Amino acid sequence: MAKTIGLLTGGGDCPGLNAVIRAVVRSSDAAGWDCVAVLEGWRGLVDGRFEDLGVQEVSGILPRGGTIIGTSRTNPFKLEGGVERVLRNFHDRDLDALVAIGGEDTLGVAARLYAEHELPVVGVPKTIDNDLAGTDYTFGFDTAVTIATEAIDRLHTTAESHNRVMVVEVMGRHAGWIAVMSGIAGGADVILIPERPVDFDEVADSIRKRHARGKNFSIVVVSEGCELPGLADAGEVDQFGHVILSARGVGELLGREIEQRTGFETRVTVLGHVQRGGSPTPRDRVLATRFGLKAAQLAHAGDFGKMAALRGDDVVAVSLAEATAELKTVPPGWYAVAQAFFG
Ligand code: F6P
Repeated sequence: MAKTIGLLTGGGDCPGLNAVIRAVVRSSDAAGWDCVAVLEGWRGLVDGRFEDLGVQEVSGILPRGGTIIGTSRTNPFKLEGGVERVLRNFHDRDLDALVAIGGEDTLGVAARLYAEHELPVVGVPKTIDNDLAGTDYTFGFDTAVTIATEAIDRLHTTAESHNRVMVVEVMGRHAGWIAVMSGIAGGADVILIPERPVDFDEVADSIRKRHARGKNFSIVVVSEGCELPGLADAGEVDQFGHVILSARGVGELLGREIEQRTGFETRVTVLGHVQRGGSPTPRDRVLATRFGLKAAQLAHAGDFGKMAALRGDDVVAVSLAEATAELKTVPPGWYAVAQAFFG
């Protein structure tokens, strides 16, 4: 009898998830394995919701954003009897391996299920935030940076026409990768990230200096996860303990402070989920495809507790435990590149 791989996508969706699914299904089919979709992340394994996933089902999905098998932010470790139900449903559906495609939360659950219950699982690193340790890049990040850079380019022309300061709030949670990369690519005049404390006076000085040398507009990129003086976390947390960062209004507060301090008219754009939607870039399609092939290969070989990762130009296997142990934040060297163009 053919062996079966279950696939799930968990956490926030991102462009490239379907490319991974396609690669796992196509290469498993070629190796004589069946595939099954676990619907809506870990929730599907808790509730036992599956669908057959064959070559037909994955035909044409390579350029499609989102995930054809659904996602959720369910954490089985936070649900009464959740882990037991995951293990029972995995067994009852006759699965031999699981490919979990997700970020630090989804893969953190995978790492624990492997370490504590020997669940035969392999991980694939997805997230627009690029904050997973163990891999140089996650897929989805390149698309988010491309979208944010295009937005910054567009804001440049309207900023210049109106002599305005434009604040652009980007996603990224507690890592400033999207802000730094799109800010460098878009020629931002100030970039603020969660890894560094924000000083409103310093920001205002930079903008004033720039205007003093004849520029009549400025672009400020700010990451949603920045701690700003006077800004408190509010609202509910999800099953992984995360607050909704976009609800904190980082961009709005920053925009008000800049206008008050400099007297320059300021407008704020919050890019939000546009950064996660739509078709993946070619780079993300290729990376997601390579990750999918690697994950399938590991699963076929019974090499569990691993995650496909990019190291330099090579796709390698790293330990899931190691990859989820800590967040990968922006190192000072990267921020220095951005800073060279401030003011
Ligand atoms: O982790 C991806 C991400 O888009 C973060 O950048 C952002 O903070 C969060 O998800 C938004 O989550 P939700 O889709 O639940 O609003």
